Amino acid sequence: MPKTRLLLAALILAGTSCVALAADTAPAWSIIPAPATEQPASHGVVHVSAGDSVSVTGAPSTQATVIAQRFIKLVAATRQLKLAYAPQDANARIMFNLDPAAAIKSKAGYRIAIGHGQIRITARTPRGLFYGGVTAWQLLTSNPVGHGAATVADGRIADHPRFAWRGLMLDSARHFQSVADIKKLIDWMALHKLDVLHWHLTDDQGWRLQIKRYPKLTREGACRKAVGPDAALTGGPDKPYCGFYTQDEVRELVKYAAARFITIVPEIEMPGHAQAALHAYPDLGVTGKRPPVSTDWGINPWLYAPDQRSITFLENVLNEVMALFPSKYIHIGGDEAIKTQWEASPVVRAKLKKLGLKDMNALQNRMMGKIGAYLAAHGRTMVGWDEILDAKLPSDAVVMSWHGVDGAVKAAEQGHDAILSPSPLLYLDHVNSSAHDEPAARPQVESLKDIYTFNPSPASLTPAQARHILGVQGNLWTEYMPTFARDQHAIFPRMAAWAEVAWSPATAIDWNSFIARMPAQVARDQALGIAYADSAWAPRFHLAAEHDKIRVTLTNQVARGAIHYTLDGSRPQPTSLPYTGPFTLPGDRTTTLKAATFTASGLELAAPRTRHINAESLLTRNSDQLSTCPTPKNGTSIALRIEDDRPLTGRRPVYKVDIGNTCWLWKNAPLDGVKRISVTVGNLPFNYAIPYVYAKVTARPEATPHGEIDVHLDSCTGPRIARLPLDKAAKTSLPATLDATLSKPVSGDHTLCLIATGDPRNGTIWAVDTVRLISSKH
Ligand code: ACM
Repeated sequence: MPKTRLLLAALILAGTSCVALAADTAPAWSIIPAPATEQPASHGVVHVSAGDSVSVTGAPSTQATVIAQRFIKLVAATRQLKLAYAPQDANARIMFNLDPAAAIKSKAGYRIAIGHGQIRITARTPRGLFYGGVTAWQLLTSNPVGHGAATVADGRIADHPRFAWRGLMLDSARHFQSVADIKKLIDWMALHKLDVLHWHLTDDQGWRLQIKRYPKLTREGACRKAVGPDAALTGGPDKPYCGFYTQDEVRELVKYAAARFITIVPEIEMPGHAQAALHAYPDLGVTGKRPPVSTDWGINPWLYAPDQRSITFLENVLNEVMALFPSKYIHIGGDEAIKTQWEASPVVRAKLKKLGLKDMNALQNRMMGKIGAYLAAHGRTMVGWDEILDAKLPSDAVVMSWHGVDGAVKAAEQGHDAILSPSPLLYLDHVNSSAHDEPAARPQVESLKDIYTFNPSPASLTPAQARHILGVQGNLWTEYMPTFARDQHAIFPRMAAWAEVAWSPATAIDWNSFIARMPAQVARDQALGIAYADSAWAPRFHLAAEHDKIRVTLTNQVARGAIHYTLDGSRPQPTSLPYTGPFTLPGDRTTTLKAATFTASGLELAAPRTRHINAESLLTRNSDQLSTCPTPKNGTSIALRIEDDRPLTGRRPVYKVDIGNTCWLWKNAPLDGVKRISVTVGNLPFNYAIPYVYAKVTARPEATPHGEIDVHLDSCTGPRIARLPLDKAAKTSLPATLDATLSKPVSGDHTLCLIATGDPRNGTIWAVDTVRLISSKH
């Protein structure tokens, strides 16, 4: 980048009011994913004003016309800049030029020349033209606080994707999304230049795709009892959670996606994750029993029988699937098929013996191989989770690596193509940050930066093997995503990070550059109405005692943006007090501290966060501020962040809880002068199917009829200094506050270990919400 532009970029980031930019200056381009090559000119700009024209030139193409017209709509909606469509106008301000013979590296590539008063996009194909249009929209929206007429710096861009598969997996089985919401998601994916929507349509908790030959799949397999927070979605525990997509809706979505250059790859799970299907058609299983549609998250044992009847059923289902989805790739699952039922079945054991196979996995592999061959015979390619690797697969089978990148490495070694969607990094059901205001999710943090710094070229691959990496995909599992707003919080803005990893050349990957481009992207997300997570920029409060005052330190995850705060309860503005370093607040009265993060140009990057601060704040912890306990011998740890199932309406608390060991540590609790302890607890249904660990869940004897929270000093086996019986809390489904006097005074800072006694497997998980120490002064 030439120096002048760099300086300009620095000024914009540092906060010069962009509105005041001189007429011949322009914001630095802020394009995500970063183009393969960008060459801003040393000077010169193109002004784009209301009424300026957009034309389509070159090879006649109705697709190109539609692309240009959609571009005009997008610019109007997000920048309040109305452009006019003027076909074949060689003097148009913005030109979409389709030239099949253009010297452009890939069919999905494009180039843009900005200069001489024009922005000229050229591509060999409508797909390339579409991506060029997305970049042109980003050129017009590179100033995060601009609207109306735009000024774009002159220069040249030549771009094409690094990987062919740039995906998002959407789980519509655990919680489903409306057709209208999936269309929005498709729009937003396309604006990140993603091109695959992997649609997880069937699972234990629901079958969501209409199959005409087997109507019971959706008539009976698409409904489950509303357990936990689902009751809030349906209106009550007596109203089931139901939903599926009709074939007409699927065709509509496939067409909608295709018009945005996105392929929908359907996934039909087999042989496991089949409980909803076996509820509808129990004869397809091996037990002769009919399971309910599962209300448990986890891994269920209900598998299709490894026999011809199941194969015929699955082939018939796939016939309808292939008719609905033109995708070359069809995903057939293959993950987490625990063989408890097969092992227990004399018929299956006899079959194994007759076939001379070594174990039940070999039987699964045989089944996956048969279905793969069926797809191949119909001109399609099977995709499966990396468990399929042990099977004898069609040579073109594609492996989706979720056991880290190991599956991809093994696949490439065997000559199979692979997609990288490693758990936990690209599993979007993991939290964006460790803050307590994150919604329910799995608690390991996978931050924007964690995802951005993912290397899609595993070092262990030779260059020839690396060519088998088809691409990169983020997976949205929806156990903890009951609503579309929650889906958006999990997906955005992290999509920007993996989109760049998937699209941009390795040489363009640069965290500092990316995070400097993110304010413009955040502004686009705001303009598009995306309920993105502001976790990367959100102010975080750190409190410490300083004599009788409270010392406050504010930080944010990415250490970018300017934090401004107020102490009078008003909403922080860019003109509010700037945070420049730690400050103190009085301990003897309550101050309302509100802080938000802005760009220097005044864009709000993170919404205000509020704390009411006094001396008691130092004596209070929420569950995210507590640690999990050491796992007992022969025990297990399954840390989650779960939402309470009550109240049915309004905000429900979220608890960090280890469901394998309901125990919390407060390290360095300040116990000087503390007389009493108060604990707010919630109760949650235990709806987890965790076969390999179920036996290891720690149960503890109860000393009182409903169990208790016991508080131990220094360690979980240290002396008990308080006992809080749960009988009062057991009378309500809402959080309840209990308190108890410490059995003896303790001085200094100590670890407190809080243990909920009882056995969560009996149906109730007790979860600590907040712990308060009460001193003689309060
Ligand atoms: C998976 O997460 N079971 C693919």
